[in-house]
Amino acid sequence: MSEKQSVPDPEAMPVSELFKKFKRLRLFEPSVGVLGFICITVFVICCFFYLDHRAVAEGSIFPGQSEKFMWLLNKGSGEDQRVEFLEENGGGCDIFAGDWVWDDNYPLYQSKDCRFLDGGFRCSENGRPDLLYTKWRWQPKYCNLPRFNAKLMLENLRNKRLVFVGDSIGRNQWESLLCMLSSAVPNKDSIYEVNGSPITKHKGFLVFKFKDFNCTVEYYRSPFLVLQSRPPAGAPPEVRTTLKLDQMDWNSVTWRNADVLVLNAAHWWNYGKTIRGGCHFQEGAKLKMDMKVEHAYQRSIETVVHWIHTRLNTSKTQVFFRTYAPVHFRGGDWRNGGNCHLERLPELGSSLVPSDTWTHFQVANAILSAHSNASQEMKFEVLNVTHMTARRKDGHSSIYYLGPDIGPAAIHRQDCSHWCLPGVPDTWNELLYALLLKREATRT
Ligand SMILES: *[C@@H]1O[C@H](CO)[C@@H](O)[C@H](O)[C@H]1NC(C)=O
Ligand SMILES: *[C@@H]1O[C@H](CO)[C@@H](O)[C@H](O)[C@H]1NC(C)=O
Ligand SMILES: *[C@@H]1O[C@H](CO)[C@@H](O)[C@H](O)[C@H]1NC(C)=O
Ligand SMILES: *[C@@H]1O[C@H](CO)[C@@H](O)[C@H](O)[C@H]1NC(C)=O
Repeated sequence: MSEKQSVPDPEAMPVSELFKKFKRLRLFEPSVGVLGFICITVFVICCFFYLDHRAVAEGSIFPGQSEKFMWLLNKGSGEDQRVEFLEENGGGCDIFAGDWVWDDNYPLYQSKDCRFLDGGFRCSENGRPDLLYTKWRWQPKYCNLPRFNAKLMLENLRNKRLVFVGDSIGRNQWESLLCMLSSAVPNKDSIYEVNGSPITKHKGFLVFKFKDFNCTVEYYRSPFLVLQSRPPAGAPPEVRTTLKLDQMDWNSVTWRNADVLVLNAAHWWNYGKTIRGGCHFQEGAKLKMDMKVEHAYQRSIETVVHWIHTRLNTSKTQVFFRTYAPVHFRGGDWRNGGNCHLERLPELGSSLVPSDTWTHFQVANAILSAHSNASQEMKFEVLNVTHMTARRKDGHSSIYYLGPDIGPAAIHRQDCSHWCLPGVPDTWNELLYALLLKREATRT
């Protein structure tokens, strides 16, 4: 009898299905059915108790955490004591220090309603069964963020250019913002790529125009930010290209006049994506064959900061540097069995991400902190998302990046660096939104 087949994963199945199955089982084989159902029920209850216990235990180890659970149980009560970030006395609040809290009002959009998304980010359409990862809101410790209002942001961007530059994680964030903004535009045809380029698999750059607001939200692929080009004459044959650590990407002339510029770079600064592929480092006319990747990354960030300070009009262009977004490959890397599949919850205590994977954060952070603090006038701001993002091992595409027709990827081919949308990058954009409104508020 087919009903005797193994009991399916209860979480992967809607409750009504489970109930139907239960009834069918009972009809034909009462003992197996009842026993199965009781087992599942007991298991689920045990899981809840276990998680709850763990959370409480963590709460007592990390005192900040118990506060969050109070908030969960007693919605709103703690909120009143926090200042509003946009109010005058909210100015000093570090919006990047806080907690992930459950919020049933999320997500801000559904992927099926957003046509500006690569298939790879549409996890739920690609078969991811749980939606828990879409339900977390970022709550700063000492202030409240404004609730995201797409109309208001578009009004703010009227006649302006918002430009994202960086690697595919930057693209992840850019597409998230396209979805967040377009949710407020009834006529989706009024949003279009100015050159008619399709969004999927497109390399180079894409410029989306919101016609009713005469604004563009643009993405330029530049995973290193500095210039990658031909090696100098006389270079050894294994040097196929070089990264000019003291020169910006040629496309930087088009980023320069943006009104809002969001930069990021980190994930490509590793041995595999540079030296192993014949891409070496260069400063001036000199090849730097012995330079370590971390040092080269540091030099590149210094170049970026110098460029911001000397070539941009920062009265016009509001510049952000988004910090490293940690990956969550456990037990391997992306090619050999590293995994994040079946992660269903954020880390509620401190992050378990090994800190050695944060070299990129440390290198960039040292430079960015020094510069963002050096002058009276802030030349750029840091989207300091590394710590908050580290706790979201549940937010990655994992095996759900191949598109609805192909189905989940093989278990040893997981993507634990990109993010499902809706999801974690929406939060980065909510923080960006808050900082944009803040600047507007302090200007007027
Ligand atoms: C649209 O925005 C651009 C700047 O991005 C500006 O130069 C142009 O004048 C604007 N057009 C209108 C009709 O306001
Ligand atoms: C910089 O931008 C501001 C604001 O748009 C403008 O008033 C100023 O003239 C610009 N400065 C230069 C040197 O272009
Ligand atoms: C980012 O946040 C971390 C943790 O709160 C902090 O150590 C770091 O200095 C911050 N970096 C910047 C550039 O603000
Ligand atoms: C900036 O530097 C001063 C002292 O040099 C320090 O007290 C302050 O905390 C720093 N601010 C930030 C945001 O790092």
